[in-house]
Amino acid sequence: NARTRSILRLMKERLSDYIMEILVSAGQVADQLGFGAYAVGGFVRDLFLYRVNEDIDIVIEGNGIEFAKTYARLKKARIHTYEKFGTAVVIFPDGFKIDIATARMEYYRFPADLPNVEMSSIKLDLFRRDFTINTLAVQLNAVKFGILIDFFAAQKDLKEKVIRILHNLSFVEDPTRIFRAIRFEQRFGFSIGKLTAGLIKNAVKMDLFNKLSGRRIFNELRQILEEADPTPAVQRMHDFDLLKYIHPELKPSAKLLSNFQAVKKVLDWHDLLFLDEEYLQWAVYLMVMLRQFKPDTTRAICERFEMASRYQVIFCEERYRGDQCLFWLRRNLPIENSKIYRELSEFRVEVLLYMMAVTRNEAVRKAISNYFTQLRQVAISIRGKDLQRIGVKPGPVYREILDAALNAKLNGRIKTRSDELNFVRNYVA
Ligand code: CTP
Repeated sequence: NARTRSILRLMKERLSDYIMEILVSAGQVADQLGFGAYAVGGFVRDLFLYRVNEDIDIVIEGNGIEFAKTYARLKKARIHTYEKFGTAVVIFPDGFKIDIATARMEYYRFPADLPNVEMSSIKLDLFRRDFTINTLAVQLNAVKFGILIDFFAAQKDLKEKVIRILHNLSFVEDPTRIFRAIRFEQRFGFSIGKLTAGLIKNAVKMDLFNKLSGRRIFNELRQILEEADPTPAVQRMHDFDLLKYIHPELKPSAKLLSNFQAVKKVLDWHDLLFLDEEYLQWAVYLMVMLRQFKPDTTRAICERFEMASRYQVIFCEERYRGDQCLFWLRRNLPIENSKIYRELSEFRVEVLLYMMAVTRNEAVRKAISNYFTQLRQVAISIRGKDLQRIGVKPGPVYREILDAALNAKLNGRIKTRSDELNFVRNYVA
């Protein structure tokens, strides 16, 4: 009883030949094995939303692992299998990956009060998903290639721009879906359906989140903070009284929200200038979010989140030093470039971006942005062996000389390599 229609034209229009070939050949391999094969989930949803998404999830009616092995052999691909779940990841020679899962009835534990209706395994597989908009499937088997399967009126909800769960116990089964609802709502500019919103409020009243580990809450929060613009999602989390699961005293104050917006501006600025520089966007936002807390509280939150210690140092130590540095800069600017450099070079990109976003002082912001665009690229060409050639005896003095040369270069007093060598000769003399 699914609504079906062909979306072959849409696929040809929006998908690269590369992706199309992967899908077509997956259908052919499934045919050989006598399995049903479907592309499902976010990939299909985003096809309708004109959003690029190359995360292909394929569900197999039959044996997903056997399918993955056969498919991988054909494609000379590597494969990771997870026998327990009947899932596999296929990794093509060029590194591109796709996920394979087995559609199996046994996977779904019916919530107690739902009738045991008979369903095909693909339908059951889709029924146990979070929201209607994620339940679209495209058939890949050759004779039916490109047939869209829509059991749960997903196309209608996509058109109406609404996030709806599939059954009333969805959030009881998996409370993380509440965060996902907000994330999708904001990402697509949709709104959470009335019934669904009511169920979220119920879930919060019932304190379902207390069953949820801090690690899982952190995982969802991090994904929200990785979205293009997390600010409205934070407001939404507040609307549903969810911020208390991060910390009971966390409120989206005007200052927090304006700092969030400032982060977005700074990140846009950064990304335009330094396209290839990678950093953790979520960490910049989370520093802002936890800004109101004293170190002990921040530490406790990070512990409850089961955050890796390599990340904990960012929130529990570096960001406090960042704030101290802002304070120091405000009192001491203007200063020489070399001093700015020495102050800022200890910080990682995330903390510098945080500092730029939260400072209210234009001169301080300029100093940091100047560090980003100019100072941190500055380097001297002379090395220890150059000092040796000039006749300086190796020792701790090398560090001092090279530092002095770098300072001079940062402050614009020397430019070329021969400037540097002259500077060193004078310095030694
Ligand atoms: N899913 C779910 N419940 C969850 C998490 C995921 O039902 N708590 C389902 C969703 O229906 C989704 C699929 O599992 O389609 C894959 O999850 P994920 O990769 O997180 O979803 P995407 O829709 O691809 O999200 P994103 O675009 O953020 O990658």
